[in-house]
Amino acid sequence: MKIYQIDSSARKDGSTSRALAKKVLQKIKKPKDEVIYRDLNEEMVFVTGLTESGMNIDEKDQNENHKKMFKLSDQLVKELKESDVIIISAPIYNYGPPATLKAWSDLAARVGETFRFKPNGRREGLLKNKRAYLVITSGGTKLNSNEDFLTPWLKYILNFFGIEKIDIICADQMALNYEKSIKDAEKQIENIS
Ligand SMILES: Cc1cc2nc3c(=O)[nH]c(=O)nc-3n(C[C@H](O)[C@H](O)[C@H](O)COP(=O)(O)O)c2cc1C
Repeated sequence: MKIYQIDSSARKDGSTSRALAKKVLQKIKKPKDEVIYRDLNEEMVFVTGLTESGMNIDEKDQNENHKKMFKLSDQLVKELKESDVIIISAPIYNYGPPATLKAWSDLAARVGETFRFKPNGRREGLLKNKRAYLVITSGGTKLNSNEDFLTPWLKYILNFFGIEKIDIICADQMALNYEKSIKDAEKQIENIS
């Protein structure tokens, strides 16, 4: 099995979401499993110069900036396609995802690779038989409350790619009761079967 671990917190040292994601990895990893790791803070490109979804631009029409986008996008799509299990850790930033995670989703949404258009014009995810664990952390925002735009968005994007088996581990409202949030999250990790 290949496990793909993606961290997105802008905090490197002392990041709770990164630490919990590591615990999820320790919980699910079997000795022979391979781990692919990606820190979205190490390398990121924002999509520009596009007019439609799916990054559908002929190579001959690509400018230097497009080429940079495609280079990283090709790598991210490859990592996603190769993996069986995906762990994504993400803190809530201003009620939504960290910008790097949104940028990741824009680069991963590739027509013919992670989704396709069906003859009726609807989209269909192409990443089948994968499962995902999402590690969500927050200061004061309650998970799935009407001010949490990260969790429903991230689930929707993964569904859009065809990933439907999704488990959520959360340490939300850490600013209110840090110990309780962490304890709850650790219990959720223990209960992963
Ligand atoms: C730029 C920024 C924006 C934030 N916005 C929110 C927010 O909207 N709601 C919230 O509950 N916490 C917010 N927080 C707090 C983080 O969600 C919290 O510190 C984080 O989940 C901890 O994860 P980490 O230690 O992995 O970075 C914000 C933090 C930062 C740095």
